Amino acid sequence: MKIAVIGTGYVGLVTGTCLSETGNDVTCVDINKQKVQMMQQGQLPIYEPGLELLFLRNIIQDRLRFTTDLADAIKDAEIIFLALPTPPGEDGSADLSYVLGAAKDIAKLVTSYKVVVTKSTVPVGTADKVKAVFNEHTDVEVAVVSNPEFLREGVAVEDFMKPDRVVVGTTDERARKLMHDLYSPYVRQGNPIIFMDERSSELTKYAANSFLATKISFMNEIANLCELVGANVDMVRLGVGSDDRIGKRFLFPGIGYGGSCFPKDVQALAKSAEDNKYDFKILNSVMEVNTIQKKILVEKLKKYYGGDLKDKTFALWGLAFKPETDDIREAPALYIIDELLQAGAKVTVFDPEAINNVKYLLEDKIAYADDQYEALEEADALLILTEWSVFRNPDFNRIASTLKEKVIFDGRNLFDLDKMIDLGFYYNSIGRDLVPQDTFTTL
Ligand code: UDX
Repeated sequence: MKIAVIGTGYVGLVTGTCLSETGNDVTCVDINKQKVQMMQQGQLPIYEPGLELLFLRNIIQDRLRFTTDLADAIKDAEIIFLALPTPPGEDGSADLSYVLGAAKDIAKLVTSYKVVVTKSTVPVGTADKVKAVFNEHTDVEVAVVSNPEFLREGVAVEDFMKPDRVVVGTTDERARKLMHDLYSPYVRQGNPIIFMDERSSELTKYAANSFLATKISFMNEIANLCELVGANVDMVRLGVGSDDRIGKRFLFPGIGYGGSCFPKDVQALAKSAEDNKYDFKILNSVMEVNTIQKKILVEKLKKYYGGDLKDKTFALWGLAFKPETDDIREAPALYIIDELLQAGAKVTVFDPEAINNVKYLLEDKIAYADDQYEALEEADALLILTEWSVFRNPDFNRIASTLKEKVIFDGRNLFDLDKMIDLGFYYNSIGRDLVPQDTFTTL
């Protein structure tokens, strides 16, 4: 099949590359000339495990191309994917100007039936707005389809190649058949392609992400309660997650959810509920809990140091919003750094992939280390903010001898509590602190 992908951000690149991998002929379009040139030379502008291999293979085999020429890209394409940004506007609702702008440009160029697929996360009713743009600017028949992505950064290639499900929103029979044929190779293990109307498909994406965010905020609150009642959230998590109806995944408490999707999507769904005069109470609480949770480590630090963090130095391990990515969008680490600097503390950071993105953003406001142990030099305590594998089994002797004091605040619960007691560390994690016995017995 001949395919055009408009927008070569994270979603567009993964989509284009993975679609070419099953033999489709894919042309990706971007307005950024420099970026297109880079990709034409085989340079991948993002870090995503496993993507580069597929990207290079398909470029070499001439199934994956990059251009700035929209007309050329869509000329023979049967399906056109829109993978454009939908940044939150000031009121939290998604800004559709890129999507609608591209639809207008395409409408002026089409000469034969096309299926136009919105891959970006867009509010309910966007497919209708895109359709209206086509109706206004062309007489050619165009089917507008909603096909939300459920890719997780870090495992996006696997998620695309073997999705749990593919959701397709369309009432156009021809488009339905084309989308079915396109995705069939990806669901051979028996996972479903679920067809529905456009609005249900658009809402599915928001509902899925908001539900997952709710799971996280719920567990963060359980963790906070664990600390007060002397329970261990690791145990509670296992006990709760073993019920199939709940499931083991996405129950890890931490320092709040971040990234390019959850914060934006939860906010956008709440806004859309508000616009429809519906008070979505749970979502508002999910967001409030997350805001508080992002500050929880700083609150713990203030308690430990008697309220004063001035002139203390903290080593931060992990900056990315989660491991296996260099993405720092809405990363809890950025909020924590901000709070620490405001409290007069000094900060030295290390992250295996995201450090340059933070350097670009914060410049000399903080110090940057070349490796995780160097970050500990002159530091009063270590804070763990992202659960990179390389932090999971560190050299504790080296940590103990480099830090000024043996103090670790772990926002990701990486280490075993008994081990940390044996090693003689003060170790404060999330939802696992034992309260003093006297408080416990009064409960
Ligand atoms: C998410 C969705 O999983 C994906 O389906 C959607 O398409 C895009 O948004 P992503 O943002 O890449 O993917 O990351 P994900 O792995 O879902 O983690 C999101 C955030 O939740 C991270 O900050 C992570 O640290 C946090 N999280 C996740 C927890 O705090 N606890 C958990 O148990 C799981």
